[in-house]
Amino acid sequence: MTTATTLAADPLSGPRLARLAERYGTPAWIYDADRIRAQIARLRGFDVIRFAQKACSNTHILRLMREEGVLVDAVSLGEIERALTAGYQPHGADEPIVLTADLLDRATLRRVVELRLPVNAGSPQMLDQVGTASPGHPVWLRINPGFGHGHSRKTNTGGEQSKHGIWHEHLAESLELIDRHGLELIGLHMHIGSGVDYGHLEAVCETMVKQVRLSGRDVRAISAGGGLSVPYREGQPEVDTERYFRLWDSARQELERELGHRVRLEIEPGRFLVAGAGVLTSEVRAQKPVGSNHFVLVDAGFNDLMRPAMYGSSHRVSVLSPSGEPRTEAVRDTVLAGPLCESGDVFTQVEGGDVEPIPLPSARIGDLVVFHDTGAYGASMSSNYNSRPLLPEVLVEGAEARLIRRRQTVAELLSLETELG
Ligand code: LLP
Repeated sequence: MTTATTLAADPLSGPRLARLAERYGTPAWIYDADRIRAQIARLRGFDVIRFAQKACSNTHILRLMREEGVLVDAVSLGEIERALTAGYQPHGADEPIVLTADLLDRATLRRVVELRLPVNAGSPQMLDQVGTASPGHPVWLRINPGFGHGHSRKTNTGGEQSKHGIWHEHLAESLELIDRHGLELIGLHMHIGSGVDYGHLEAVCETMVKQVRLSGRDVRAISAGGGLSVPYREGQPEVDTERYFRLWDSARQELERELGHRVRLEIEPGRFLVAGAGVLTSEVRAQKPVGSNHFVLVDAGFNDLMRPAMYGSSHRVSVLSPSGEPRTEAVRDTVLAGPLCESGDVFTQVEGGDVEPIPLPSARIGDLVVFHDTGAYGASMSSNYNSRPLLPEVLVEGAEARLIRRRQTVAELLSLETELG
């Protein structure tokens, strides 16, 4: 479900967004750098904050992360190249770039071997393949502890229905592979899903301690994975980062006592660092009654912001006049939809696909509709469906705003085919 909101407390004010819409067109992604920095500051207790760049992988955002001392996780060859482009070194203190995956395609394997990039292995085959190609290679073990949790079934990454990680009962055979290839074990990693829940968190911390004990290995690091949630709806609580840290810190301390040395504690958030820093702007282009439903159609579609169609996710929405003043009058139940030739191209829907009208002030053609908290899994999940070009991304730094990705053109889209003659 998506809900209506005003822009009162938002650093990206309505008039500012309207000016940016004029300059860069709509739809567009706009990010606020200070908001990202503020979120980073909330996690400073952890030894390493490793950004799960799948949430927002623009190289300029990665550069900002690097300048703030945040390290990076990659899940593909493309994400490795993004990290390198943003200036991350393949080697350095605390391993600046780690590749987390459940399989290694051949091109990615070649690149991690060439760079000797630490691999967070999610299957025994990965260990075998890395070990064969690169004996002594540094690895992490990503463990599926047997349970998981997510804001949607599709973001639960633990338990028997999940393809992720090495099943906790297969730790011994993974260690055998590590020994066979003389791999260097850095540490153990668990990420049970997106959307934190303290009950599960306690269980993960306990399982982490147990698994390290069971391994009988001298690990130098553990990773808490990501999954910290953000308040998407009005009134939803913020994650208590102090409590989150305390739980993990005590698991770490228990291990330090047993191992007799310091253990590095990592956290790997994606959404938490960037979701609230980003908005998607769009323009109202049509509206029509459909039986008892009132549809407002904007120029952004689910190829741009996929979360509502994929998970029934909720995003707060503002309606602004073309000069950026919030519309407040004549609130009515509204279905907000996009331009795609597909019925699921609706931003106000529940998981499963039923449309869910939300109360919104009356919009006029040419008004702006702003989707809030879309900095994570917004641009990075976009596609070219319906042959729609990828949107521009703009980074706001105080009074400055700069384009950090230009709008793709239709000619660029076609060139992959037309360049063949
Ligand atoms: N680490 C690993 C190994 C992960 O698989 C993920 C997310 C993260 C960290 C970061 O999780 P976060 O802190 O962002 O929750 N597209 C979905 C989210 C999919 C997350 C996949 N893995 C969404 O839009 O909600």
